[in-house]
Amino acid sequence: MSDIKQLIENNQRWSEATTKADPEFFNKLSKRQNPEYLWIGCSDSRVPANQIVDLLPGDIFVHRNVANLVVHTDFNCLSVLQYAVDILQVKHIIVCGHYGCGGVEAALVNNKLGLIDNWLGHIRDLATKYKEELAPLQGQEKVNRLCELNVLEQAINVRRNAIVQEAIGRGQELQIHSWIYSLNNGHIKDLESHN
Ligand code: CO
Repeated sequence: MSDIKQLIENNQRWSEATTKADPEFFNKLSKRQNPEYLWIGCSDSRVPANQIVDLLPGDIFVHRNVANLVVHTDFNCLSVLQYAVDILQVKHIIVCGHYGCGGVEAALVNNKLGLIDNWLGHIRDLATKYKEELAPLQGQEKVNRLCELNVLEQAINVRRNAIVQEAIGRGQELQIHSWIYSLNNGHIKDLESHN
């Protein structure tokens, strides 16, 4: 789809169909959002949050960046986290990576891509941290294991964050999930219940 006008046409068709299915849909959503989930995922165009868990607009608060990182000094991510936890009071924080993540792969092969190399340095650090576990693995297997380790690590970063710690400390109901999505078959795997 190369014609940008097509997107506006798609939008009009979608809004009409949505209104037809639920005449109050936009009216309700325009008043407030009340999502139960915060999604922290990769920017990859093949991993759209709402679509892969089959949720509607209003159901999920979303933060996406290259390789689904939760960096302690990233005020963008932290602002999303704070708003989601303190104001929206989401009940679940989902860190969802995906196999074959280009960001993870780029960090492993050490190609020079420009500014983004600084961002991917976080994954290089992770590859160093887990180098013994990764050493016997090759190619895509190595990339995919680092994709999993990255999700688990970012979920730890969420759990350790002061915003989350304070919320849990005051008894707020909050669960953190480590998920990974497979581009091959569209399935999500829960890494914590499978490891
Ligand atoms: Co990715």
